[in-house]
Amino acid sequence: MSAHPQPTPGSLHDSGHATPPASTSRDVTIGVHNVVTHYGQREVLHKISLDICRGETMVILGGSGSGKSTLIRHIVGLEKVTSGEILVFGKNICGLREKEFNQIRKKIGMSFQGSALFNSLTIAENVALPLREHTELEDSTIKIMTRIKLESVGLAGFEDYFPSQLSGGMKKRAGIARALAMDPEILLFDEPSAGLDPVIAAGIDDLILKLKQAFQMTIVVVTHELASAFLIADRITVLDKGHLIATGTTEEVRASTHPRVRQFLDRIPDQDAGGAEKYLDSLLN
Ligand SMILES: Nc1ncnc2c1ncn2[C@@H]1O[C@H](COP(=O)(O)OP(=O)(O)O)[C@@H](O)[C@H]1O
Ligand SMILES: [Mg+2]
Repeated sequence: MSAHPQPTPGSLHDSGHATPPASTSRDVTIGVHNVVTHYGQREVLHKISLDICRGETMVILGGSGSGKSTLIRHIVGLEKVTSGEILVFGKNICGLREKEFNQIRKKIGMSFQGSALFNSLTIAENVALPLREHTELEDSTIKIMTRIKLESVGLAGFEDYFPSQLSGGMKKRAGIARALAMDPEILLFDEPSAGLDPVIAAGIDDLILKLKQAFQMTIVVVTHELASAFLIADRITVLDKGHLIATGTTEEVRASTHPRVRQFLDRIPDQDAGGAEKYLDSLLN
């Protein structure tokens, strides 16, 4: 697959369809080209194409089960595509050898839905972990870097706490600090505010905005939270049952006339939501 010419935004891809240019003048950091993904026999992503440009915040919006996590997990090699390409910094990571992929992986920080901290390690040790694994830095340097990362997420002074001693929002922040440990060029968030109360969730949105301004990283945020999406995004991509149904600036998506996009943005229940009623009827009759 690496023999494929590297497409530029808006160029013709394998299918012969022109992918709409995300931006013709900016660098593409992540290129998703005609990606099809299966879990077993079931196809869950149907020919997804999407460009994410350097320094932008792209929000992947969509209902539960629409394929958002699968898409973002492709970027860090946690799921394999059935066909298509994922280009990161211009390199197709599908089929890359482990050593080569790890070089790219180091430049990507990911904040997982459940923050995925090690409970037996302190917050500082959790944040330091990627530095200990991937660098030869001295302990004293790692300590300083860890403190800076914790400060940048508002957790200064919590170095010696264990995850169990922190609230949900603080754990989330610690997970973000760990994602920042290696000074990544790409930062990925899977449902950053899931399970948090609205005020704490708003704090995480603020933090993402702050990180975006401070570090100019390319940020991809997966969420089903509309308000959060429109607050933090430069551009939004909407997935619906594994189909990409909209991609554009927040204004463009807000003005979309696509019926499924409208339904999602206007929070209109599915027509066949009556399915539950029909099912109950069928049991009774
Ligand atoms: N590991 C898995 N094995 C089988 N099916 C999966 C797996 N992960 C996700 N799926 C299915 O793939 C579809 C997309 O899931 P996912 O990417 O998690 O969606 P989202 O993050 O938008 O909720 C869903 O129908 C889900 O049930
Ligand atoms: Mg998900």
